[in-house]
Amino acid sequence: MSTFTIDTSTSRATPSPVPGKRMTAPAIRARKADGKTGQPIVMLTAYTMRMAQLLDPHCDMLLVGDSLGQVIYGLPSTIPVTLDMMCAHGAAVVRGSWHALVGVDMPFGSYEASPAQAFESAARIMKETGCAAVKLEGGEAMAETIDLLTHRGIPVIGHVGLTPQAVNVLGGYGARGREDREAEKIIADAKAVADAGAFCIVVEGVMEAVATEVAGSVAPPIIGIGASADCDGQVLVTEDMLGMFERTPRFVKRYDDLATRIGEAVRTYADEVRSRSFPTADQIYRPKP
Ligand code: KIV
Repeated sequence: MSTFTIDTSTSRATPSPVPGKRMTAPAIRARKADGKTGQPIVMLTAYTMRMAQLLDPHCDMLLVGDSLGQVIYGLPSTIPVTLDMMCAHGAAVVRGSWHALVGVDMPFGSYEASPAQAFESAARIMKETGCAAVKLEGGEAMAETIDLLTHRGIPVIGHVGLTPQAVNVLGGYGARGREDREAEKIIADAKAVADAGAFCIVVEGVMEAVATEVAGSVAPPIIGIGASADCDGQVLVTEDMLGMFERTPRFVKRYDDLATRIGEAVRTYADEVRSRSFPTADQIYRPKP
């Protein structure tokens, strides 16, 4: 567990974490009973303390996704993301949140070799970040691993459909499940992950009918991304939905245009620095009168 907490005496601790009970994996799992979910589960990605502070009051779950490889580090895919990166960002997000369940992605190469390798990596993530769950990609092939983790005290979020860590096998990021055989495989994957004990499952980038079928046929909640409104919850990459990038995939709805707004603010700052109109008397230290 991270030994650091936010210094609440500084301006950057606002809003301060409020003591209370965090969402738990059993509470998320219990949102879906007898195949029905009353209140859909709200999940967003977070990679930093500040973003976690802003998202936490509105979300049931915060995902420290390995999409941070592209979003934070400018990497070409999630493949180069390391356990060190996931632990550092996971700990920051736990520090910045107090209500949402924090789940941390297991990066490529940290879990696929064997259930024992997965346990070692997941245990490190949980100890170093204080998160409450890990997420790993894969269906039937990962069932034994998910079974072992969940029976050793590690709640697991499954991830099937378009699995970005397998981009080199899939050949791209296009939607999955267009053909019957592939659709059946995705449904079988979701069932295997559910039977193995995942408390919820992300279904990414699949044809709507496939996602609807999965949501209707497995017991744990299905969190969709590029999937279907019939899912038990939804997740997006926060920087995508805030409009931080010029281009976003079709399944993203932009709720803001932060890239433009940041550009405008920074241009104003640059103009004021160059014209010496910043700083003004309000922003400088002078002896008290
Ligand atoms: O890494 C990530 O951000 C994810 C979500 C897109 C589900 O896995």
